Amino acid sequence: MSGQFTPGFSTLQEEITCDRLPVQGSVPAWLTGSLLRNGPAQFEVGKQHYRHWFDGLAMLHRFAFHEGEVSYLNKFLQSPAYKKARETGKISYGEFATDPCRSIFQRVTSAFSSESGANANVNISKIGEAFVALTETPLPIEFDPQTLETVRVIHHDDKLAGQHSTAHPHYDPEQHAGVNSITNFGAKSNYNIYTIKGGTTQRSLIGSIPTQEPGYIHSFGITEHYIVLVEFPLAVNPLNMLMSGKPFIENFQWKPERGARFFVMRKEDGQVVKTYAAEAFFAFHHINAFERGNEVVVDIATMPDALIIDSLYLEKVTGLRESTPGGAFTRYTLPLDGTELTSEVITDEAIELPRINYERNNGRDYQFAYGVGMNKERPHDFINQLVKIDVRAKTARTWYGEGCYPGEPVFVAAPGATAEDEGVVLSVVLNGEKGNSFLLVLDAASFSELARAEVPHHIPFGFHGIYSRK
Ligand SMILES: [Fe+2]
Repeated sequence: MSGQFTPGFSTLQEEITCDRLPVQGSVPAWLTGSLLRNGPAQFEVGKQHYRHWFDGLAMLHRFAFHEGEVSYLNKFLQSPAYKKARETGKISYGEFATDPCRSIFQRVTSAFSSESGANANVNISKIGEAFVALTETPLPIEFDPQTLETVRVIHHDDKLAGQHSTAHPHYDPEQHAGVNSITNFGAKSNYNIYTIKGGTTQRSLIGSIPTQEPGYIHSFGITEHYIVLVEFPLAVNPLNMLMSGKPFIENFQWKPERGARFFVMRKEDGQVVKTYAAEAFFAFHHINAFERGNEVVVDIATMPDALIIDSLYLEKVTGLRESTPGGAFTRYTLPLDGTELTSEVITDEAIELPRINYERNNGRDYQFAYGVGMNKERPHDFINQLVKIDVRAKTARTWYGEGCYPGEPVFVAAPGATAEDEGVVLSVVLNGEKGNSFLLVLDAASFSELARAEVPHHIPFGFHGIYSRK
């Protein structure tokens, strides 16, 4: 690996406001709104280090567009984890793969309470009109989308059981509500699928799927009538987890002999109408799902196993000891009147951090997906290119820049767009040679560069974000 990407895993302390970034090229004048990004930005507290990319303290970034100009603002999220770290100079809360030393009593107590650092560094979503930063503990943090100031930690006002939710809620236009899954670890474990309406802090259960040993679930799919949840065989014995003394994810074991299970739940009444068995695989991200005749099509960025989690420990990823595996764009077809699913890899271009034209196509048949991937001529590297997959033609376009490391591409439709890919794709890119980052604007149809706006500092590699038209 070249190692030029290592600034992407180093701390950024500066919080800045920049009214006008230098722009090369031309940002479309119709682009008026802001790209809000989330990701870890601080990887050590005092003398202690977080161990994994997924653990760093959350920072929000805002790129705002006005008449071809781009402004930039970044701020740490004022989570309990961040504030306690500032106060004490120590890591005080457990994260995905880092755990401060705690007694067994503290560990058991915290497992059954809402105690969490709420280091919401994974994604950004909206609950009604409120913008929230999300991680996998069920404590969204509301923030101001203009100033990035933290508003409050949202505590749900209900009795829904669960300790680990996905940071990838869907929006269900039929119900005008957010939909998510939360895993309840216990003597009887289950995946609870729920909705939450804007302006409320109450979640309503749609349905529950029992499981003996819950899998690690990062996202799921939704169609017009169904929720599609896939349980991978990266599984945990919940009772052992309480006593293990290990950080969260290290309690999970890869058990390929179990295979994977696809659950299809009817939204209307929460009934699991179908369960399918599949060969073992792992994924973080569903790409899209939709109904086609009497079948459900489920697209997922798949990996043969869960070694990717291991490869993203900071020591490994920055020590150049392993290359980062990419996901395979895999289409599963689930016959509603049959029992056997089929699968097909759509393209040989790797895809991760997938996005689609969500407003228009989520839950519906579609043609295009965007993501990050690996340049085939530079495979021993961190994720180093952007891809656009034509799902129907099974072809791909790519954007690659020497020494450049792009993040999740976010599609923004042009006003009055008629074609699915009429608009732009926005991605925060690390320029490894210069050591700083830029916001890249691609024409979504041709996947060619329209503009880039340079930021004075590096932006540590983030995960997800959204485009807000305001
Ligand atoms: Fe994710």
